[in-house]
Amino acid sequence: MSLPVAQPRLPPLAALARYLDEIDRSRHYSNYGPLSQRFEVRLAEHFEVAPERVVAVANGTLGLTAALMAAAPPAGSLCLVPAWTFVATAHAVRLAGLIPYLVDVEARSGALTPGIAAAALAAAPGPVGAVVPVLPFGQPLLEPDAGLVAWDEFADRHRLAVVVDAAAGFDAVRPRRSPVMVSLHATKVLGIGEGGVVIGPDAGFSEELRRRLNFGFYHVRLAMVPALNATLSEYHAAVGHAALDEWPQSRRAFQRVALNYGRALADLPGVSLLEGYGERWVTSTAILRLEGSDAPDIDLFAGALAVSGIDTRQWWGRGLHRQPAFADCPRTPLPQTDRLAATTLGLPCFPDLSAGAAVRVARAIASAMGVWREGARQAGAPGSPPS
Ligand SMILES: Cc1ncc(COP(=O)(O)O)c(C=O)c1O
Repeated sequence: MSLPVAQPRLPPLAALARYLDEIDRSRHYSNYGPLSQRFEVRLAEHFEVAPERVVAVANGTLGLTAALMAAAPPAGSLCLVPAWTFVATAHAVRLAGLIPYLVDVEARSGALTPGIAAAALAAAPGPVGAVVPVLPFGQPLLEPDAGLVAWDEFADRHRLAVVVDAAAGFDAVRPRRSPVMVSLHATKVLGIGEGGVVIGPDAGFSEELRRRLNFGFYHVRLAMVPALNATLSEYHAAVGHAALDEWPQSRRAFQRVALNYGRALADLPGVSLLEGYGERWVTSTAILRLEGSDAPDIDLFAGALAVSGIDTRQWWGRGLHRQPAFADCPRTPLPQTDRLAATTLGLPCFPDLSAGAAVRVARAIASAMGVWREGARQAGAPGSPPS
């Protein structure tokens, strides 16, 4: 039987019923109804911030777009985006009226750092107005040099808008001052179907953000600024409440999967999981890195796993610069992005993936590595291991 790469599990009907019943009674379906408002308060508790900083959104992509609009960098300016991210980051930048300027990431973390961004500013082909750092696959950014405090300092020093894409960071991110977007898509650890949340610096930013999420209206029906229609529906807020009710159990389930993978892959040379995954933080993807100069070709490796019935995904493809929609964006050299794209693979990951399944995946990885090394040895390929 083949093992899918993802198999989300959202709260069942029984867990939703009391929240759906509230919608029937309130007859409020969208535009910050009572369930959305209470969902924001509960999210504020989770992120340990004041409730007025939290705004629920229709999805992460539009949340990021609206947050960039609310931060108001000069229209048409460049926005630094790590080339190692999901396409949604750059789509949001374009939707907000900015030009994605693709920059490289740090080798170990796979994240854009303030140091890399500062160097890219000096080489920028035009005025830069904003930066969107990304938490790679939900991994926390590393304090003290590259964490969110360092990004706040970067924003002050360079007078730039910094909006953080923490799409997969529900568990890991602890927002500071710069606005942070977290996705609540079905595939994330706190999945509600389609949804997201933006945590801004203060009530003033939240007010501007709500205007950008609601046709440019605020209090009066006058479109004051360019805007979207991207508020969270009450139905998705209902799922959000039920998902938060279950969060301690679902976090434990994702952690169990991570620790099972950690054990199953511990003795396998040439592969690693992301630092701290399952130990300090959880996410909904199990990301495998191939290491060393004799690492297999990623497509052939994924093909070998597929033959063993293991579904995998190159979640971020080969980097933004290889996506036709962003191939024409200005960019710096991107060697680390290219290296990460050629060595990163998403393994099957869902809350009820068993310990036995993790062992099965590890065995398939070991076998694919063995076949690759033997092939390389016989071909005498450069970098092949000594026989
Ligand atoms: C890095 C990153 N940014 C943005 C998004 C977009 O979030 P959403 O699917 O909620 O629009 C994703 C989705 O997975 C993502 O991985």
